[in-house]
Amino acid sequence: MSDKRKLLKKYMRCLGEMKNELKRRQLRKTLKTHMKTLNELACEINQREGKQATQRQRGRVCDSRNLPHPQMLEEYTTQFCRLSVEARELLESALAARKDAYVPYSKFPVGAAFRSKCGYVYAGCNIENVAFTPGCCAERTALAKGVSEGQMMFTGGAVVAYHPKGFTMPCGVCRQFMREFACRDFPIYIAKAPAPELADRIPAIEDEDEVLVTSVYRLLPHSFSTFE
Ligand code: THU
Repeated sequence: MSDKRKLLKKYMRCLGEMKNELKRRQLRKTLKTHMKTLNELACEINQREGKQATQRQRGRVCDSRNLPHPQMLEEYTTQFCRLSVEARELLESALAARKDAYVPYSKFPVGAAFRSKCGYVYAGCNIENVAFTPGCCAERTALAKGVSEGQMMFTGGAVVAYHPKGFTMPCGVCRQFMREFACRDFPIYIAKAPAPELADRIPAIEDEDEVLVTSVYRLLPHSFSTFE
């Protein structure tokens, strides 16, 4: 066989291999697309079935039924004037307590108030410290006042602060602190204080102001509640 013919044969073989490889790749691509579709279908079925899954099943969709506190209260926003007298009283007490906030470092005054099971209202403000760590949030100040007077169970709470971007939510430590005195879930009313530039003209929360109604368990759903 001449050299040229040999070379031609070699190229022909190469081309044949390349053609086969292309076919394999094409098949692999098609297979990949089908696998993706199947996986997506499997995920969708898993998700749908997860809604009816029992506690024992893995990969279930998480909703409040799977949490340790099924009696968790609803969360919603409403106008101040639509709240109960008790809720409004808590918010007004929190706003009043905010005036005493000791905040030379953050300049961010917060007021909080809690109603004990006996009906007493305990209000407090945040108290900061030059060493930062010893500072105390308004929620813990208010609760500590009640607990130190023998009140261990509370039925409602309120937090008032002013942040231009929205509601001021309790910090993690305060959520755990509240949880300690909530043998069952109770509502937490969160409102915005009047803006500092309006504080002189508007001393109170106004009827149409928006209030976030949340709850202790909602703020800390997977809380640490016992070590026994
Ligand atoms: N602070 C509260 O008192 N309560 C809250 O819910 C959030 C933050 C205080 C802590 C600190 O004195 C200041 O706000 C700024 O973080």
